[in-house]
Amino acid sequence: MPEQLAESIVQLALRRGFFNPTAEIYRASAGFYDLGPLGALMKNNLINYWIDTFVKRETSFDVYLIDGSLILPYDALKASGHVDKFTDPMAECKKCGRAHRVDQLIEDVLGLKVEGKSIEELQEIVRKNGVSCPNCGGELAGFKEHHLMFKLSVGGGEETAFLRPETAQNIFLNFKRIAFSMRAKLPFAVAQVGKSFRNEISPRQSIIRLREFSQMEVEVFFSPLRADGPRGFEEVGDTVIRVLTREEQMRGNGEAVELRARDAVEEGIVPNRFLAYYLAREVRFFQSLGIPPENMRFRHLLPEETPHYSGGNFDLEVKFSFGWKEIVGNAYRRDYDLTVHSRHSGEDLSMDDNGVKVVPHVVEPSFGVERILYAILEYSYREGVREWPLLMLPRIVSPIKAVVLPLLDREALTSRAWEVYTALRMSRRPIYVVYDDRGSIGRRYARADEAGANLCITIDFQTLKDNTVTVRDRDNAQQVRVKIDELEEIIFNDMYRGLEGTGGG
Ligand code: GAP
Repeated sequence: MPEQLAESIVQLALRRGFFNPTAEIYRASAGFYDLGPLGALMKNNLINYWIDTFVKRETSFDVYLIDGSLILPYDALKASGHVDKFTDPMAECKKCGRAHRVDQLIEDVLGLKVEGKSIEELQEIVRKNGVSCPNCGGELAGFKEHHLMFKLSVGGGEETAFLRPETAQNIFLNFKRIAFSMRAKLPFAVAQVGKSFRNEISPRQSIIRLREFSQMEVEVFFSPLRADGPRGFEEVGDTVIRVLTREEQMRGNGEAVELRARDAVEEGIVPNRFLAYYLAREVRFFQSLGIPPENMRFRHLLPEETPHYSGGNFDLEVKFSFGWKEIVGNAYRRDYDLTVHSRHSGEDLSMDDNGVKVVPHVVEPSFGVERILYAILEYSYREGVREWPLLMLPRIVSPIKAVVLPLLDREALTSRAWEVYTALRMSRRPIYVVYDDRGSIGRRYARADEAGANLCITIDFQTLKDNTVTVRDRDNAQQVRVKIDELEEIIFNDMYRGLEGTGGG
């Protein structure tokens, strides 16, 4: 069944234009996917909703949105530690030549978590337990650390650069400029949405593990002298979060504890209120996107998985059909990034906190766009409700807000339907509606449901008499008759349905 759901999502994605392998008419290479017409709109809606929620509607501190270069110079990534340490352990099959990520293979085959172990230790585990190539059963050899960044040569080759492995680095590199140009005061944050690139050894599960993907990241800069938290903490402090503690993981239980965000800080589980603030807001954000709280947990990374400079990492994991998987990385990076960039560049990256010079500390929530899109698709997919599959997408991110349908293929109906459609498309608040007059009305409803269209607007003979139309709701298939003049407002309000009190929108 789990594999079936994943397969159904992939098939629906291909059939309806959500995503497909890059260059699929040739031999597509693994880890690259294109978003099709519906996927691209859905991604755009998700990003806008995220920016609305975490940038524009943030009232606890200023959040500045930037849009940095995808290509970063060698020196910057040397300073950040990526040139030396951004690697995954790899081995190749002697027989079929396939490359494998060794830590993942050990986890899959033996159920052991081995993050933080050296390549020699991993090789020993493979040898002792007789782990072989999952593809052909061949022997694994050539154990080495595989570098994850895509290297580029700039200009005539005199300069080395890399495609950025995370969006976060642009933020640290721009820190001084932003602080100066925006006259920023601590605490403040910088956000960025954009592509990141990692030369993953064995990308898999369609858009879950990619070599080119998108991130939505925030770096919150605050004074280490004032970790009492953001102004808005009181509003979200009572939100219940589910934490998979280190103790639980070591016991092998995997049972998350439920506690209020404020208690998580007071009990010393989460290191500070800035981080707890984001954990609480993430629960609300994803709940508004249709993921039930009981299917989310914050996994406190074990010491061996946590970078030495970090004051604590909490991965937001969601329960997928194939198991729990991280969709957001949350980290308390302390002053690591600004300190290393200051040291390597020679720039002073400290700030003033009431007369005291401090290097700001950083809390970082890092959202992966494609994994979130996939999670939303899994949680929206329904079979057995109607004769066709149905995507009950969260209305704010669904690509099609309404489909305009003439009841029959008659000139009087199609021309009136076309007028309604163009008026909605040209409305003051542009709404993505589509026009569909191909096939029976039943087939058209089925197509709209499978694409996750929020509403269907049908133009029938009564429309010609009194300027009313029927509006069919995707989720319950009920129809109401409304005036054409009210449509824009109805569709617009419908997009925001259910978002009250979630901190979103
Ligand atoms: N700046 C911190 C950072 O990049 P990360 O945990 O490596 O942290 C954050 O990445 C998020 O980016 C992950 O939670 C995941 O959603 C997404 N992500 C990371 N690697 C990915 C990949 N290869 N394919 C798709 N999404 C990925």
